[in-house]
Amino acid sequence: MLKDSKTKLYVNGKWQEGNSYYDLKSPYSGEIIARVPLATPEEVEEALASADRGKEVIKKMTSLERAKILEKASHIFEQRLEECAEILTQENAKPIKAAKGEILRTIETYRFAAEEAKRIHGETIPMDAAVSGRGWFAYTRREPLGVIAAITPFNFPFNLVAHKLGPAIAAGNSVVLKPANQTPLSALLTAEIFEEAGLPPGVLNVVTGRGSVIGDVLVRDTRVKMVTFTGSLEVGLSINAKAGLKKVTLELGSNSGLIVDSTYDLDSVVSRCIEGSFAYAGQVCISIQRIYVQQDLYEEFVSKFVERTKKLVMGDPREENTDVSAMIHMDEATRIEKWVEEAMNSNAEILSGGKREGALFEPTIITKGSSELSVNSKEAFAPIVTINPYNEWDEAIEMVNDSSYGLQAGVFTNSMDKAFDATDRIEVGGVMVNDIPSFRVDQMPYGGVKNSGMGKEGIKYSVEEMTNLKMVGFKVNQ
Ligand code: SIN
Repeated sequence: MLKDSKTKLYVNGKWQEGNSYYDLKSPYSGEIIARVPLATPEEVEEALASADRGKEVIKKMTSLERAKILEKASHIFEQRLEECAEILTQENAKPIKAAKGEILRTIETYRFAAEEAKRIHGETIPMDAAVSGRGWFAYTRREPLGVIAAITPFNFPFNLVAHKLGPAIAAGNSVVLKPANQTPLSALLTAEIFEEAGLPPGVLNVVTGRGSVIGDVLVRDTRVKMVTFTGSLEVGLSINAKAGLKKVTLELGSNSGLIVDSTYDLDSVVSRCIEGSFAYAGQVCISIQRIYVQQDLYEEFVSKFVERTKKLVMGDPREENTDVSAMIHMDEATRIEKWVEEAMNSNAEILSGGKREGALFEPTIITKGSSELSVNSKEAFAPIVTINPYNEWDEAIEMVNDSSYGLQAGVFTNSMDKAFDATDRIEVGGVMVNDIPSFRVDQMPYGGVKNSGMGKEGIKYSVEEMTNLKMVGFKVNQ
């Protein structure tokens, strides 16, 4: 791959030409970086048939064999870290230092998957606790589902593929992977790495192209037993409506809220909040979008936040000192420009940023806008954050909960009572006390409530989603 710029589909362990191609452009420079196949429904059908055969192959492998392949893949990622990071930066404009960070996480995610492959087990059931259970011996076992369709987003194109592929292989499933059409190169490179690591043909198949064509075939096909999707609410709802009785897990993003109630170190909290708001131009499902600061801290917090945000370096993602680069597409930057205009036309105040140059959007801080404004109520997926003061603790909790989403939330407080109260009352999949909602390590359970989706990722938890629990009973005494 990538030795010439024309890429291929990966089906049944073979690299095959597409019937037609699209030009993949760098979001930053607009240069064509590769020509990528637009898979047809017939090619998706081939990938499904291949995965259907592949599921029988991987099902027969021992957990140790699966673990070794995952370990080896992790090791190859380590050896090819620089190359992976460069491809990532080229195709999604993630600043190179963050791209390297993503590859380090990917290495770890596959390592967690290798470890998890070795501890998939059931439990014995105390049958004789029921009157009619006398004389029974029973246990559960976890079995692979079969074929899994993985549909992945552009924002973490290596690590969010790893979050689907790693546990799927650990649990003994085959996969048809449809990467975001902006980031196919990382998925194809992942396939190349797994080929080198010894994954048998058919266990992983990668089809690139239009989501509307590929996704539709995958989601409706009855050979597919689970669809695992990360992306927008709109697409997630449509997948769920078409999937029939398949398992579906959906990770759909958020407009994450953070409460800054009290802290011993405001400087470090501000730095952490800037990172959480503007890393990868805010194109992260758990990016901080709404910050609520206790009135007594508000002026100092805002003044430090604005001063340091102005120092962020915007520009070429290949430069080591770049903090914020282009958004994934000009359309996304113009969308966010309109949202900021809407805020400016209401009573909101822009404290910093607000301007667009091509696909680059300035890190933007907004205050005093109503909660109905798009910048507050919808998922921005852009380098914008709103900051507002509160007086009463209950008011802060209510404001964080005033959202149709619920992925993760953060709260900085020196009060144990408030910390526990926040973990109890905030309606999200994860609460981070004394850190930002954007915190994630790859073995922890990750997944939201409300419009943020359903099901959990984090290797152990994905393995649970990607296996069937089978009950086995022996009537021992006749
Ligand atoms: C996401 O955007 O959902 C992934 C965030 C992360 O893995 O850090």
